[in-house]
Amino acid sequence: MKAIVYKRYGAPDVLQVDEVEKPLPLDNEVLIKIVAAEATKSDCEMRSFKFAVKWFWLPLRIGLGIKKPKREILGGYFAGEVESFGKDVSRFNTGDQVFGSAQLRMGSYGEYLCLPDNYTIVPKPKNLSFAEAAAVPLGGFNALHYMRKANIKHGDKVLVNGAGASIGTFAVQIAKSMGAIVTAVDSSIKEEMLRRIGADYFVDYSIEDFTKSGQSYDVIFSMVANTSYSSCIAALRPGGRYLMANPRLFDMLRSVFTPLLTDKTVTFTFARETEEELLALKMMIEAGDIKPVVDQVYPMERAAEAHRKVEAEQRLGVVVLSNFQQQPNQMSK
Ligand SMILES: NC(=O)c1ccc[n+]([C@@H]2O[C@H](COP(=O)([O-])OP(=O)(O)OC[C@H]3O[C@@H](n4cnc5c(N)ncnc54)[C@H](OP(=O)(O)O)[C@@H]3O)[C@@H](O)[C@H]2O)c1
Repeated sequence: MKAIVYKRYGAPDVLQVDEVEKPLPLDNEVLIKIVAAEATKSDCEMRSFKFAVKWFWLPLRIGLGIKKPKREILGGYFAGEVESFGKDVSRFNTGDQVFGSAQLRMGSYGEYLCLPDNYTIVPKPKNLSFAEAAAVPLGGFNALHYMRKANIKHGDKVLVNGAGASIGTFAVQIAKSMGAIVTAVDSSIKEEMLRRIGADYFVDYSIEDFTKSGQSYDVIFSMVANTSYSSCIAALRPGGRYLMANPRLFDMLRSVFTPLLTDKTVTFTFARETEEELLALKMMIEAGDIKPVVDQVYPMERAAEAHRKVEAEQRLGVVVLSNFQQQPNQMSK
């Protein structure tokens, strides 16, 4: 089968089209024909081994490969069709349209992916294309996880910092669906899209520092690693909640003391990516409460271009890779 492989860490051009062995499902595994996969910021970070928060570096380098990647096919989130399954699998049928998470196994940047049947894989939302469905899990899981942790009450003022990409576009919509008054912070090219999906207010971070505007919030959710911790805590109302999707080590340490010294709380725990969460997202999508914002769909062969788009941060929402379009003898390396 064809796959996008990377055999060394580096710039987007390390992503190359290659022929690899098609996986065969073990007794407890399901074989999925991939139709679309998200090109995530995390994929770009793993490919380049450059992370906004440095403490990730050592544990991930040990996990993913010291000298070169142990797993050569990236892609944690996908949508596709069940092709076949092992003899112990009972919860899938051939042809089921599904979406889900491959976790750190990755492998969604290929024609086929084999996963244990206890991974988070659920039926695709009926009202989404495969490309739209692949744009859901990463942003949806994290946004839902943090917005639930935020314990949002009707009328709460919620600020989403770094709102315009994968996680933030879902966080704006989920906070809104919980009854919040939402302020989105990002660069000005994302303002129209963020207002369209429900942001009540918009702050261009290149013009204004939201922590110095005199406004205060019940919840601040930040995707941006270099956000000032103390300024965010100061910008919270009494009883406020600060949630960090990209926590720096020092800020994680400080977060232990904040609830002891103030009436504010801090959360940075990672999303667990459970089946319950993905089914909740599917229900919200089918009810029309939230929807993925897809910036652009690239055929798998153009994965390097897709990564450049994600890294340039000019995307409005999510960048998706669709399945391969060219025949093997037409593929450029
Ligand atoms: N905690 C977790 O469980 C978890 C899970 C998955 C991913 N992550 C991490 O979370 C991050 C978020 O991923 P993502 O795909 O949603 O977003 P992202 O690609 O990191 O983009 C965040 C947005 O923030 C904007 N931005 C940059 N600097 C800013 C600033 N100073 N103030 C406000 N906005 C700013 C960017 O726009 P411009 O640059 O165009 O201005 C962009 O639209 C990634 O680094 C990822 O690795 C965390």
